[in-house]
Amino acid sequence: MSHLMMPYKLKGLKLKNRVVLPPMCQYSVQKQDGVATSWHELHYAARAVGGCGLIIVEMTNVEADGRITDYCLGLWNDEQMEALKGIVDLCHEHGAKVAVQIAHAGRKATGKEVLPIAPSAIAFDENSKTPRALETAEVKDLVQKFQESVARAVKAGVDAIEIHGAHGYLIHQFHSPLTNKRQDEYGQDLTLFGREVLRAAKAAMPADMPLLMRVSATEYAEGGYGIEEAIELCRAYQKEGVDMFHITSGGEGAAVGSRGVPGVHAGYQVPLARKIKEALEVPVIAVGRLDQPDYANGVVSNGEADLIAVGRGMLKNPNWTLQAAESLGLPIAVPPALAAGFRLK
Ligand SMILES: Cc1cc2nc3c(=O)[nH]c(=O)nc-3n(C[C@H](O)[C@H](O)[C@H](O)COP(=O)(O)O)c2cc1C
Repeated sequence: MSHLMMPYKLKGLKLKNRVVLPPMCQYSVQKQDGVATSWHELHYAARAVGGCGLIIVEMTNVEADGRITDYCLGLWNDEQMEALKGIVDLCHEHGAKVAVQIAHAGRKATGKEVLPIAPSAIAFDENSKTPRALETAEVKDLVQKFQESVARAVKAGVDAIEIHGAHGYLIHQFHSPLTNKRQDEYGQDLTLFGREVLRAAKAAMPADMPLLMRVSATEYAEGGYGIEEAIELCRAYQKEGVDMFHITSGGEGAAVGSRGVPGVHAGYQVPLARKIKEALEVPVIAVGRLDQPDYANGVVSNGEADLIAVGRGMLKNPNWTLQAAESLGLPIAVPPALAAGFRLK
């Protein structure tokens, strides 16, 4: 039977355990230039020291106007790539593998000077700017930008790529019937943009590097999609080469999802991850209130998900993984300098 501290292998990615730090925006860029700072280095390296197997660096965007805020990370130039390399090297030095979430916020970009773009000119809510609908040629340019950012991430030394297709950001906006009302080919086939991004990403990655995709498995919104449609979305993306899905939910409805509470109890998204895993026979990461170690361990042991991600739990406690191993009585290598603080061998 699998457990939380057992190694895991996906193509060329070898993890020492099943614990993932999910992408979490730090909004901590100093000069609005998208370049990671010492904050980012310390934040990610601390979770590596704390025993986490896979660190997924926060939403890192393909163009300046594609960021949620002016203080979010980017990967549209080489200075940003060098800064990401600093994070990757530190995490590697301290035993964690690293992925980065490549993204575009679309209509959810809130930068001061930014006129957001989107598949269609529909605002997120009454407090948001109305986005400009992309021309067909501009959509193709964005696919190219995703590819360039992925290529930079690979050059920075990451071990995997995660494409952000969740939480109401650009790729999600294309595949949601709520936000894509286009008349061109990208409106005829709601997965076309996402599939083109994945194909472009794949072409910029080594063959043995896993391609992850984060997807909202239900929208909690009237007129939005649910789990059955999400399975079909994932099926289309899987055919394009996604090796593992990271299953979350919400983000498109103004009233719920990223702005509300879809019954956020322990493991609330695990049934969604399990359904996608079973329907498509694909590895999945489960996330969402999995910070109780015995619960998280049970999700892995029962085969409901392959990996579990702990977000807010690891914001609060960078040593979450070490403490989870201690409380579960499972083996883990503790950095000698921290050993006195744990009842671990
Ligand atoms: C401060 C913060 C920033 C986040 N930023 C991102 C992000 O960049 N990309 C993303 O896909 N999800 C983001 N999320 C969602 C988390 O990755 C995760 O799915 C969510 O917090 C639920 O997991 P948890 O209950 O373990 O915290 C963010 C969450 C928080 C709390």
